[in-house]
Parts: sequence; C-alpha cells; structure tokens
Amino acid sequence: MRRKLVAGNWKMNGLSTDLAELDAIAAAAKVTQCDVAIAVPATLILLAAKRVVDSPVMIGAQDVHSAEKGAHTGCLSAAMLNDVNASFTLVGHSERRADQGETSADVKAKAEAARDLLSVILCIGETLAERDAGRAEEIVTTQLEASLPKGAAANWLSVAYEPVWAIGTGRTPTVADVTAMHGAIRAKLRGLIGGEADAVRLLYGGSVTAENAAALLSAGDVDGALVGGASLTAAKFVPIIEAAAAA
Ligand code: PGA
Repeated sequence: MRRKLVAGNWKMNGLSTDLAELDAIAAAAKVTQCDVAIAVPATLILLAAKRVVDSPVMIGAQDVHSAEKGAHTGCLSAAMLNDVNASFTLVGHSERRADQGETSADVKAKAEAARDLLSVILCIGETLAERDAGRAEEIVTTQLEASLPKGAAANWLSVAYEPVWAIGTGRTPTVADVTAMHGAIRAKLRGLIGGEADAVRLLYGGSVTAENAAALLSAGDVDGALVGGASLTAAKFVPIIEAAAAA
C-alpha cells in the first residue's frame, strides 16, 4: 500500500512573512494519514524547516544543480540544500524545462546528484499540442525513460505527472485520462525498474484544488498530488491534504 503524498510547490512566491501559513499545514500533517511536503523558494528553506521542525512536514527545494560544487553562479548543490535542512527537491518541473531549457538528460543528472542527500520528485508531462496530436502517452513515457535516474527506487524517488496545459490554468484532465496516463507511467516504470515500480509514488499535478482533489486523487495509480497555487495558503492546501488522506 503506497502512502499518499501531497507536495506543495510555492514556485517564485513567498517571503518570510508567508511562513505563518506553515503553522496550520503542520498541524494538519500531524493528524492526517498522508505525507506532506512543500518546495519553498531556496531563500526560505532554512526558516521553513525550523518552523515545521516539530511536525512531519518535509521542506524541500524546487531545483538542484547536477554538480557537487564549482563555477555555476546562482546555482545550488544538493549538499547546500541539505545543509539548510531541505529533505527533498523537485527536478524537471515543466517551467524549468521551458524557461531554463532543461533537457531530460539534465534532469536525470540532477536527480542522480541529489539522491544521496535528498529525496526527489521527478516531474514529467505533455504540452497541449502533444495531447491534441494524440501523442501524450508516448511523450510522457519517453520523457520518463530519458529523465529517470540510475538506481531509481521508491525510498527516494517519486514521479509527478503534470500536463503542462493543466498547470496554473484551472483546467484538468478527466479522471479517466489521469487513470490512463498513470497506468501508462506505471507500466513503463515496470519495464525500466521491474517490481520496484509498484512501490514508487505517482503524483498528479496541475490545477489541483480543494474542490477537485478528491476526484483526482481517486483516479487509478494516483498516490498523491503536486500542488502549485493552492499550496500557498493553509486555507486552500489543508483540504487537499485531508482529501488525500481520505482517498
Ligand atoms: P498549479 O501548479 O497547481 O498552480 O497548477 C502545479 C505545479 O506546477 O506543480
């Protein structure tokens, strides 16, 4: 039985004054049967981790560099993130693939660099044009294979399926579409890493809200959610945690 994971992604949002939102999230995490994680901006990791220290909430980063250290101005290594008490990182978010031109090979290298120090949530997903062309499953499973780190295992890796057209748009795939895609991802993973694939958590992401969380989290092979906009306040995020625990 895979325990549900609800992960927030604050993206480029949040100042130290916003950390007060974490108090109610931490309180909810203590009493629900569901893992809770939040990828905050790097500037807030240390403060956020201190704020939730007495709760099971995991604080993480939104990206990591693939090198251990060196001449990479503005970038952060896994050791640096670990040093400020991050316990996980996202890799391969579609906004980074688009805005920073990250390739699946880059994403794979980042996950491999992180694995000894941080858990990893690997993001994959198709664009609207790719879905309209009937190529969504092919694109997503190809991206998964190319991004999947060596030694992928459920104790440090989760996969988030995030259709690019559903992120921040208020649009979501149908439950049937999510079930079909997660089934295809699970099948591909089995081909790549065998039986271990059945323990890897597959998250759905893209316009998850308190209103649609119960339905999306009931889709086949959905083990949690990756939540952007609705993770910014406890009022919106806590009901998603509760929906996941009930799913
Ligand atoms: P959204 O973002 O929930 O705001 O659509 C999800 C994500 O990008 O992880």
